[in-house]
Amino acid sequence: MLVNMKEMLNKAKNEKYAVPHFNINNLEWTRFILEKCNELSSPVILGVSEGAMKYMGGFKTIRNMVENLIEYLDIKVPVSLHLDHGSSFEMCKSAIDAGFTSVMIDASRYPLDENIAITKKVVDYAKKYNVTVEAEIGRVGSSTNDIDSGIVYASVIECEKLVNETGIDFLAPALGSVHGLYKGEPKLNFERMEEISKKTSLPLVLHGGTGIYDEQIKKAIECGICKINFNTELQIAWSNALKEKLKSSDAYDPRKIIKMGEEELKECVFKKCNLLGSINKA
Ligand code: 13P
Repeated sequence: MLVNMKEMLNKAKNEKYAVPHFNINNLEWTRFILEKCNELSSPVILGVSEGAMKYMGGFKTIRNMVENLIEYLDIKVPVSLHLDHGSSFEMCKSAIDAGFTSVMIDASRYPLDENIAITKKVVDYAKKYNVTVEAEIGRVGSSTNDIDSGIVYASVIECEKLVNETGIDFLAPALGSVHGLYKGEPKLNFERMEEISKKTSLPLVLHGGTGIYDEQIKKAIECGICKINFNTELQIAWSNALKEKLKSSDAYDPRKIIKMGEEELKECVFKKCNLLGSINKA
């Protein structure tokens, strides 16, 4: 069932667990993730970055693929199809027009007033189509050379202002996490996370799930995080399996080659759902 994120994240907030967001890269990944989450009876968010959208042939191709896979595989759990890090109003509009059920507008690189103006424009458009909106404030870092760089911790006051002036459904406050592999230790500001959760009352989103320790993930959920994004960890699980299996294989059929990472990718999906407490929450 393709749905927006409202009900699934509000339920997660009330019952203190988090819904996994897994980035998809192709048909096979989408299928593996859907099959595993259905088996686990876990709600799931399929995240699509702009890069992945271009790779897979546009928003409409993806929407049709996901919709038809849900029907073909008889997927019963709630599935949200979500634009990850939409960089502009136009990009979010394209995703909404193609039938995505949720979008993230990431205008966090702009000064607050501009972030608010762009985000508000997306919210006004999305509301007409029953599409939910996530927005980001502060800056999620990235790992470069030997350090985790570019992290900007979101401020409580700015979070409140963004939420109050835009009417977003979910907030992703950057609080120390990093996209990709951490070079150092993840240093999340849990106190501020809790304060932002209390002041805004919205389900919060944690980006850069890869490499955050299990105890930190659990603590984040206690502090109000209801959606956690994972990408790199799935890519590593799948590609490591593939590299190993190809050493002793003469396979040339791409279907067989891509499938070599299925078990490991599904195991990674299971571990995350188990950690987040989303199993049997569909
Ligand atoms: P990771 O690649 O670090 O898991 O982050 C994924 C993410 O936050 C996508 O928005």
